[in-house]
Amino acid sequence: MSDQSTNQTWGGRFTESTDAFVAVFTASVGFDRRMYRQDIQGSIAHARMLLRIKVLSEADCAAIVQGLEAIRGEIERGEFSWSTALEDVHMNIEARLTERIGDAGKRLHTGRSRNDQVATDIRLYLRDAIDVILAEIRRLLGGLAELAMREAATIMPGFTHLQVAQPVTFGHHMLAWFEMVKRDYERLVDCRKRVNVMPLGAAALAGTSYPLDRPYTAQLLGFDAPCANSLDAVSDRDFAIEFTAAAAVLMTHLSRMAEELVLWSSAQFDFIDLPDRFCTGSSIMPQKKNPDVPELVRGKVGRVNGHLIALLTLMKSQPLAYNKDNQEDKEPLFDTADTVLGCLRAFADMIPALLPKRDNMLQSARRGFATATDLADYLVRKGLPFRDAHEAVGQAVRLGVETERDLAEMALEELRQFSPLIEDDVFTVLTLEGSVAARDVLGGTAPNRVRDAASQAQAWIAQG
Ligand code: ARG
Repeated sequence: MSDQSTNQTWGGRFTESTDAFVAVFTASVGFDRRMYRQDIQGSIAHARMLLRIKVLSEADCAAIVQGLEAIRGEIERGEFSWSTALEDVHMNIEARLTERIGDAGKRLHTGRSRNDQVATDIRLYLRDAIDVILAEIRRLLGGLAELAMREAATIMPGFTHLQVAQPVTFGHHMLAWFEMVKRDYERLVDCRKRVNVMPLGAAALAGTSYPLDRPYTAQLLGFDAPCANSLDAVSDRDFAIEFTAAAAVLMTHLSRMAEELVLWSSAQFDFIDLPDRFCTGSSIMPQKKNPDVPELVRGKVGRVNGHLIALLTLMKSQPLAYNKDNQEDKEPLFDTADTVLGCLRAFADMIPALLPKRDNMLQSARRGFATATDLADYLVRKGLPFRDAHEAVGQAVRLGVETERDLAEMALEELRQFSPLIEDDVFTVLTLEGSVAARDVLGGTAPNRVRDAASQAQAWIAQG
């Protein structure tokens, strides 16, 4: 970056040049240059609107549009020289435009301030980021629905307190994840509505004396509407907070999924195999295959939570309207979008590739007395009050623990000592298959319900 000691953009009223350190300290070009595309997009729309209201001539507007497009090319080819002295992406591009096309470049900023310009750029940037993130969420959801369909009848232990509770199907578990992430999708869709409102025309804070056609600019930029109040338009970053909050919830969900993937791929659980391409080895222990991708996703939730707190704190107690504090909104926002996108990409690639170890899950479900509730329900159907049934089955489980056998492995006569109501039809309810098939309620784990739910999930994805 080149350096210049006096700022040509606003230097008019200053009698001494900016302190060298202050220039670096207050500059944002190091990070806001990544909004160059949105900045140029916003400027082109502003210029076209100025032409429409006859504030710009046809020739000036054409020169501006061509100049900005050429600058976009320079930036994309790595030929643009960014200057810290020019503070931010907006002034860097505007200065270059004037360098290229002369006075027409100086007319672009008519009826505009960097305050409404930057607020517009961030919203455009975030809107683009949300769209990419939504597409990636859909890919992840598609993988989950497909896996759920494939494994609709695969029995695994369901847990509460991380202790075996009742058998469920692996497909059912995948659909629980699907629901969590689908809500994240819907939160972001909703957030996008409040992002997609246009600050341009608010100018510095009060609006402008030029007869701007704000709905026209909004339409050119694909915004739903112009912001209704100029003070609010340049000052609030609640849409960024909201996005980061939705991202934090999404990351929390991904961290829960990650945690289960880590547990399941351990030798102790051994429920799944993660393909080698998503794992790494150890430099010292030759036997190791570490689930790095889920671990890293689990770890990254911390930075997004941190960004949420940073943005809330940034906004707290700010007086209207624009304050320089707001320059601090970008890095947390960019990093949140990058982090979420990276984690989604990793999961969307990995989920369809994970290999369930069906036999191991089945054996594990057999070991934990997962059908104890089924035996109690059986006794209730035979007329025993539920609390008495609970007690009788508790005693049967104790025998099972002492003799290291599952309920289904006991002889009829042994079981009958806990209740004379037990007859030889008991063994159909004590099987894991019978147990899951019996959960034939809307939202339940019976394989036919899981298949229904998985096909509804696939229909939701297909409908776009
Ligand atoms: N770089 C600034 C930001 O990110 C642009 C707006 C500057 N406006 C101002 N009045 N200094 O917020």
